[in-house]
Amino acid sequence: MKNTVRRTQLIDRMTNTTTHLPTILAIESSCDDTSASVIRNGQILSNVIYSQKIHEAYGGVVPELASRKHEQKIIPVVEKAIQQAGIELSELDAIGFTRGPGLVGSLLVGVCFAKSLALALGKPLIEVNHMSAHVLSNFIEHEDIEFPFICFTVSGGHTQLVVVRSVDQMEVIGSTIDDAAGECFDKAAKMLGLDYPGGPMIDKLAKNGDSLKFQFAKPNMEGYNFSFSGLKTSILYFLQKQKKENPSFISENLNDLCASIQHTIVQILMVKLRKAVTDYQIKTIAIAGGVSANSGFRNAVQDFGDQRQIRVCIPNLQYCTDNAAMIAMAAHFKFLNNEFSSQDAEPLVRGYGI
Ligand code: KG4
Ligand code: ZN
Repeated sequence: MKNTVRRTQLIDRMTNTTTHLPTILAIESSCDDTSASVIRNGQILSNVIYSQKIHEAYGGVVPELASRKHEQKIIPVVEKAIQQAGIELSELDAIGFTRGPGLVGSLLVGVCFAKSLALALGKPLIEVNHMSAHVLSNFIEHEDIEFPFICFTVSGGHTQLVVVRSVDQMEVIGSTIDDAAGECFDKAAKMLGLDYPGGPMIDKLAKNGDSLKFQFAKPNMEGYNFSFSGLKTSILYFLQKQKKENPSFISENLNDLCASIQHTIVQILMVKLRKAVTDYQIKTIAIAGGVSANSGFRNAVQDFGDQRQIRVCIPNLQYCTDNAAMIAMAAHFKFLNNEFSSQDAEPLVRGYGI
């Protein structure tokens, strides 16, 4: 009850109205997770995620297979989300969906499904930007976050430092100029012979390794942008050289390699976060995206917050990687702001400003 009141106040600040608090079904299908969630009164009632394992064998997401799998899974996933929420379809006030950015075939499945359901139920549609939704995922558990705050969104496709001034005013002040941090984790893992997606495995093995054993190149970039291609090349050349001298080098040093690679990626991220927080005099930091599940990154952000006496919001693991609960939260805010989409909305693969 307390949470509901707080969130209602936040919404009232935004809309200047006391409104009907809606029940929304949201769909996420931008990459390789088929997900559906129900939100009521700003509270998540269900968050069902089907993570497609089919891509593991290929070492990365195969777009054609991803869209086929979404098509196969979307109905059972939605049915489960409705069932777990304990509601009837007729109770829904709107259907939210991820419009982009993402893979076009994957997005199409979610967009078409949302449109069809909205049409059948006679309910409005709400399109959601996947990247804004990652930011807004923080409101699922921290409804009293004060603006402005910085959200550091770090995923397999994006690395973004975002200054959030309100739920619909976000400025991306820094992003990657080449690979995303998650991509770097995944590519490094592949070089170590680990399965896709490699980020979680590096995290696991790093716990028993020495993070200072090996040193890798770090970019020397001004401003808030990121680059991970130099680090990737540095890891590749280092491993090639070591393997020539000792073919079992990787297996003999796997934990230390994982710990050192993770430490380097986290250091690259933290340099920019520290700079942004200082320059923008920010009092709250939030993190989002798949890499925010990384224990080294979570600890580094928390330690930094403790040192500076800055509030740190770290999401529950289920809200870090792609999930429909974050789409539901973003759709909830849009509903209250009367922002609806037409049946003409098509997927936006890129160039969909946050
Ligand atoms: O946000 P996400 O689910 O999908 C998008 O890219 O939008 O992020 C997936 C990424 C993958 O690169 C995966 O390896 C990484 O997040 N990841 C992790 C961890 N869990 C997921 N990276 C490092 N440590 C983790 N624990
Ligand atoms: Zn994502």
